[in-house]
Amino acid sequence: MKINHILCYCSLLVVPISLCHAQQDQPSIEQLLNEPFLDDYYSNVVYGYKIVTDTQNIASRYVGNSLNCNNCHLQAGTKKDAIPLNVAGMYPKWRSKNGKRNGIGLRIRECFLYSMDGIMPPEDAPEVLAIAAYVTYLSQGQVMGEEPDGRGVPTLPDTGYDPNPANGRSIYLERCSSCHGEQGEGVVEMPPVWGLDSYNKGAGMNDIHKAAGFIWANMPLGNGKSLSHQQALDVSAYLNLQIRPSDPRDSKFLKLLEHLFD
Ligand code: HEC
Ligand code: HEC
Repeated sequence: MKINHILCYCSLLVVPISLCHAQQDQPSIEQLLNEPFLDDYYSNVVYGYKIVTDTQNIASRYVGNSLNCNNCHLQAGTKKDAIPLNVAGMYPKWRSKNGKRNGIGLRIRECFLYSMDGIMPPEDAPEVLAIAAYVTYLSQGQVMGEEPDGRGVPTLPDTGYDPNPANGRSIYLERCSSCHGEQGEGVVEMPPVWGLDSYNKGAGMNDIHKAAGFIWANMPLGNGKSLSHQQALDVSAYLNLQIRPSDPRDSKFLKLLEHLFD
C-alpha cells in the first residue's frame, strides 16, 4: 500500500498511473482529518482537500477573486455533473485552449489563472502538488483513459432556439438573485456570479454552453434540473453579458509586446 502511494505521488505531474486505481480501501477524508500523523501522500491529500474547499484562506497568494474551487467543483469535487475532480486518469491530454498536452498540474494551474482570476502558480508549488494528490485520491477506482461517469457538466441538447439574455434576466431575478444578489455580487456565503470578484472572461464558466450545463444540473442550489434547457441557456447568456475581469490572454501589455516584435 505504501509503495502505491509513493508511486502515485511521484507520478502526479507526469503520468497518473493505474496502480493508484487498484481497488483497495482508502481512508475517507473525515478519517484522514482526524489522524494525528499522516504519511507524505495522505498529508498532501488533506492539504489538497483543504485548498479546494477553502481556497480563499489556504491558497490566497494565487487567488484574485472571492471564489473557492468547490463553488464550481461542488461537494469538494465529488459531485457528478458538477465538474468532479476524479479525473487523474484523463491526463496528460491535448487541449485546444492552450494548444499543448496538459498534465493534471497545468490543468490545475489554469483554473487559478482563469476561474480564480489569479496568477498561475509555478509547476512545483506545494499547492499544485497537493491538489494533484487530492485529484489522484479522488480518482481511485477509475480506469486510466476512460471518462469517469458524470465528468464535466452535461452537454445540453440543441433546443432549436437561440439563448435569450433578456429572458435570462427575468429568470435570474426570479430564481437566482436571492442567493447571488441582484448585481451578481453574491450574498454572505453565496459566491458572486459576475463583477470583479467573479471568474474572468477566459474561464470555462464564461462559455455559454458549459455554464448552461452546470446551471441546469446544479442550480438553483439544492433544486437542480428544475429549469428547462432553454431557461438554463437563457440565464447563462445573461451571465455571459455581465461585467467580469478580462481574459488575461487579452492583456494590453502582452498585445503591446506582440507589436514590438512584429
Ligand atoms: C468559476 C468556476 C470554477 C472554479 C472556481 C474553479 N474551476 Fe476548475 N473548472 C471549471 C470548469 C467550468 C472546468 C471545465 C472546463 C472545460 O471543460 O474546459 C474546470 C476544470 C477543472 C479541472 C479539469 C477537470 C476535468 O474534467 O478534466 C480541474 C482539475 C480543475 N478545474 C481544478 C480546479 C481547481 C484546483 C480550482 C481551484 C483552485 C478550480 N478548478 C476552480 C470551473 C471552475
Ligand atoms: C439557494 C441559493 C442559490 C440559488 C437560488 C442559486 N444558487 Fe448558484 N450557487 C449557490 C451556492 C451556495 C454556490 C456555491 C456552491 C458551493 O460552494 O457548494 C453556487 C454556485 C453557482 C455558480 C458557480 C460559482 C460562481 O459563483 O460562479 C454559478 C455560475 C451559479 N451558482 C449560478 C446560479 C444561477 C444561474 C442560479 C439561478 C438559476 C443560481 N445559481 C441559483 C447558491 C445558489
